[in-house]
This record gives sequence, C-alpha cells and structure tokens, in this order.
Amino acid sequence: MTDPLITLHAPDLSERLQCVACTASFSISEVRYHCTCGALLTVERDDAWHQTLTRALLASRQLSHNPLDQSGVWSFREAILSLPPEHIVTHPEGRTRLYERRSLADFAGIEQLGFKHEGENPTGSFKDRGMTVAVSQAKHLGLDYVACASTGNTSASLAAYASQAGMRAVVFLPAGKIATSKLAQAVGYGATCLAVQGDFDEAMGLVQESASKLGMYLVNSVNPFRLEGQKSIIFELLAQRNFEAPDWIVVPAGNLGNTSAFGKALREAHAAGWINRLPRLAAIQAAGANPFYLSYADEFSHSYQVKAETVATAIRIGAPVNYSKAKRAILDTLGVVAQVTDQEIMQAKAAIDRSGLGCEPASAATLAGVRQLVQAGTIKASDDVVCILTGHMLKDPEAVLAATSLKVKEIAPNLQAVQAALGA
Ligand code: F0G
Repeated sequence: MTDPLITLHAPDLSERLQCVACTASFSISEVRYHCTCGALLTVERDDAWHQTLTRALLASRQLSHNPLDQSGVWSFREAILSLPPEHIVTHPEGRTRLYERRSLADFAGIEQLGFKHEGENPTGSFKDRGMTVAVSQAKHLGLDYVACASTGNTSASLAAYASQAGMRAVVFLPAGKIATSKLAQAVGYGATCLAVQGDFDEAMGLVQESASKLGMYLVNSVNPFRLEGQKSIIFELLAQRNFEAPDWIVVPAGNLGNTSAFGKALREAHAAGWINRLPRLAAIQAAGANPFYLSYADEFSHSYQVKAETVATAIRIGAPVNYSKAKRAILDTLGVVAQVTDQEIMQAKAAIDRSGLGCEPASAATLAGVRQLVQAGTIKASDDVVCILTGHMLKDPEAVLAATSLKVKEIAPNLQAVQAALGA
C-alpha cells in the first residue's frame, strides 16, 4: 500500500543555472560552475513552488515515513532541486535542533539567544545538507568521479555521500592543517586523500584545475547545487520557529557558501510569503582570515585576499570563492560582517562547551561575534538572535585539549590518590 503522505515530485523543467552577473542562463543538466563571463552561477526556478510547498504540506511531512520527507533537506525539495527519487542520495540529513542556554545569552549580554546545532548532521557538520544535493545531482547526471578541496568538513561529508552512492571521491587537503577527526572521517569513508603542500586556497585552485582537466565533478561551494541544499538550514530554522523570523541570524564565514545560501534562502522564504520581514545576517570571520570583513569595512569596493591563519582551521581561508553572492546576501539583509580574534573564539568555545552544547572552534565565532556586536550596540540586548553552530565538538579534539585551563590529572589506582586529586 502506498503511503498517502508520499508526494513524488516530477522533474521540473523550469529549473536552470543562471549567471549572477549577466542575463545568461544554462541547462540545469550542464556540468559548469561559472558563466561564460566568468561569474558564479545559481540555481533558479519559477515561483510555482510557492503554491505547492505550503506550510501544511511541510507539517504533514514531519509525520511521514518517506525517507525524503525525513530529510531536513529533501522535505523542502520543491525549493531545492527536482530529481527522480531514485537518484537522491540521502542519509538522511538535517532536522537539527534549536537550543537556548541562559549561560550563553548572559555571555553575549543579550536576553534571547538561540543555537541551531548543525553538528547534529550525519557526518557532524552542515556540509551534509549541501553534499546530499551535489552528490544526487552527480548521480542524476551519471557522474561517478567527484572531488573537492577542504579544510576538513567538506571532505568528510563528500567521502560519506560518495561511498553511499558508489562513487570515487578525491579530496584535496591543506597538508597538516586539518583537524585529525576530519581526516580520519575522509580516510575511513574511503576517499582518496591528497595532502597538498600549501594552504586551502592553493588546494582550491588545484582541485578546480584537476576537475576540469581530469573529468572530476567539483562539489565545493562554487557548485550551485551545494548552496541549494544549505538553504534548508534557514528553511528549517524558520519552520521550527513557526515562521517567525528572528532579528538576526549569525553565521561563521570562510568560503562564504553559507552566507550566500542564507541570503538566497531568506529572499525565497520572503517571496513565498513564509516570513514577512528579512532577518539581518551577521557573518563572522576570524581576524586572521578576514578578507570578507576587509571588503565590508571598505564598503564592498572590491574583494580582498589574505594569507589566512587562525586556530579555527575550518575557516582558515584567504580567498573565498563565493564573494559576490555573499556580498549580495549582506546587502539584501542589511547585514554586517565582523571579525573576532582567536582568543575570543576560544573563550566563546569554552562557554559553549561548558553549556553542554559543545561545538568546533569555527562555530564558536558566532557567539564571540554576537558578544562583540552587542557591545558595539549593533545588536540590541532585546533582539531575537540565532547562531548557527556549524560543526560538532568532536570535530576538533586537539583544540579542546590544547586549551591550557583544561587538564587531566593522572593518578595512582587507589582511593587516597582520588581523594588527593579531588582535594577531599
Ligand atoms: N564552520 C565550519 C565548521 C566549516 O567547516 C566551514 C567551512 C565554515 C564554518 C565556513 O563556511 O565556507 O560556507 O563560509 N568549511 C569548508 C570545508 C571550507 O572545507 O569544510 P563557509
């Protein structure tokens, strides 16, 4: 018997790849990441989904046993990508929770502060939301050789989804600069791991050249299908809040994929009538990896590149590929870009860890950023703010253990030693 809640979605020919700079558009089935003019591409579709993807349909999918409905990405499929269900590679992913912790609101100096924990995804970061879409599109196109450059999380996610789909994955990593847990995931899930003697930005250049010369499908966030999946963080957040928009959404910013995806998701949610006002985006960079902050401070007169260095290795990126899309996201939402020091990141991380939530260093840039923006008067203490925690605490155990205040006491195996250690 068929489940009455299953809605099979016929491929929608209205979807297309559209240039962000000129009017050119391309077939959704073309393997391309840039327009002929060199600018980035986005996936665009007709507004027909506004009528189909109603709040009532979304609510019914919460109760459905259809694997697509159980995914926090594919439950929004009419606004993400139309694919035959048999081509969709889903774990499933998403459906992450929204938390509030009094101690963290106090830390930031604010009354109400939410945290959407994307570390609850299958491989421990938000990357799974984009990867399910990019790998599904690869399967749909009959491609079975996929690649990315990564500061760690993208590679872990690609490795998992590629192995689920039976594809060969190659990941380009900055040698010695990714957290051990992320490397272990990529290796364990079976990707071919190349440690590039250079930084992430060099690895990114090399994977783009390799993809075009060696016929690999590139699934970094220049791939517009990745960003379609990452929009679901915002859609799901809005649904969890009964479509009450917060005042601010705060996100760590590295390659600027999330910042871009969030801007697009908010525009679309607004156009669909899900929300009646746009929250403001706050993109937070590490001070040692701050090209987007420099552009913002310079009123976006041009894009900057820096030699990146930060304890938050996930966002150790000096030449973000999604600059133009992220700039639009900030301008459209009257957003801001801030930078926080490594010390501020690690203080915020300690507070998040001790609240019981836990996260990796890059994610903690959000809380550090809120605190700074409250102190500057940009965010008001009465504002309703949500931080996106992008990665799980276990992603970077070295960062926790290196924090000097946290020491493990080694003791002899007897009660006296226990008492001495506890001062009892
Ligand atoms: N937080 C975490 C945990 C990340 O892994 C990343 C990016 C970001 C934030 C920044 O997001 O690039 O969309 O601005 N990690 C990529 C990777 C670059 O390779 O795993 P962004």
